[in-house]
Amino acid sequence: MIVTTDQLYKVAYKKFAIGAYNINNLEQSMGLFRGCIQSKAPFIIQLSKGARGYTDKRMLEAIIRTAEVIFPEAIFAVHLDHGDEATCYDCIDSGFYSSVMIDASHESFDENIAITKRVVDRAHAKGVSVEAELGMLGGVEEDIKVDEGHACLTNPDEAVEFVKRSGCDSLAAAIGTSHGAYKFKGQQSLRFDVIEAISQKVPGMPIVMHGSSSVPIEEVQRINAAGGKLDPSARGVDENEYLPAAKLGVTKVNIDTDGRLVWTRVHREFFRDKPAEFDFRPPGKVFMQAYADFIAHKNEKLGSAGQLDAVQASVGG
Ligand code: G3H
Ligand code: 13P
Ligand code: ZN
Repeated sequence: MIVTTDQLYKVAYKKFAIGAYNINNLEQSMGLFRGCIQSKAPFIIQLSKGARGYTDKRMLEAIIRTAEVIFPEAIFAVHLDHGDEATCYDCIDSGFYSSVMIDASHESFDENIAITKRVVDRAHAKGVSVEAELGMLGGVEEDIKVDEGHACLTNPDEAVEFVKRSGCDSLAAAIGTSHGAYKFKGQQSLRFDVIEAISQKVPGMPIVMHGSSSVPIEEVQRINAAGGKLDPSARGVDENEYLPAAKLGVTKVNIDTDGRLVWTRVHREFFRDKPAEFDFRPPGKVFMQAYADFIAHKNEKLGSAGQLDAVQASVGG
């Protein structure tokens, strides 16, 4: 059942975090649904601009609508990840999306507010909620590369004004993470002081954590042992920090890179061990199961595992 993102936030806020997983294709979608059913977790499916253009945006919508029929017990929201203004309008007008993210964080403070407010007005008129970003994460956001020197943490005082003037429904905050596999050079930790300050100054506002992959060292080592060339010093977010962050108001946790690592590990190992194979279904089957297990594990760490009944009771479906 597709629900609104707000319905999920209402149940989760300050108790646990909802996993927001990017999907691009059929195998990833099957693994995601299976993993969430396996762990009895509500979830958010998110589609980036790149994912929508990978084949055809209608293909992803058809996959998700079909998965809803195949897995009637699943409860999830559908979200646009890192949208520009035009893509937000396309998603709002489609009637398919529960929420959109407008990412104008690279603009000036006032311009970010102005763009976000325009999207909020149009989204709210259609019952769609809006995630907006304040502060800048390092790494790559869609086509925009933010180098570490220009990344900046969200200022909690600015967050108060930003939320008030833009009318956004959730806040993507820069709290020490960055996108991709290479997040931390030295100390690996979230900025709990910033999370706490935002949640005190903007009470009730769900905080969204981008760049939440943990980049497990074992995964990197297995990929490299099967012919990969990833930087072995790559580090992500400590999974044991998800739940403490959730208790402080981090309600949506975006994970994409870790799923890509699962795909890479499965396929590299499969073809290393079976060099004579050329059928894509055997590794595809291994991947779907590995992806389901990965999702179920993440949901345990986020505290969303086992919460399906609570969400069902809350939405009254
Ligand atoms: O934050 C970005 C997400 O990982 C989506 O990546 O734009 O390559 O689909 P993508
Ligand atoms: P990762 O690159 O850490 O998986 O972050 C994904 C993300 O923030 C999607 O919006
Ligand atoms: Zn992101």
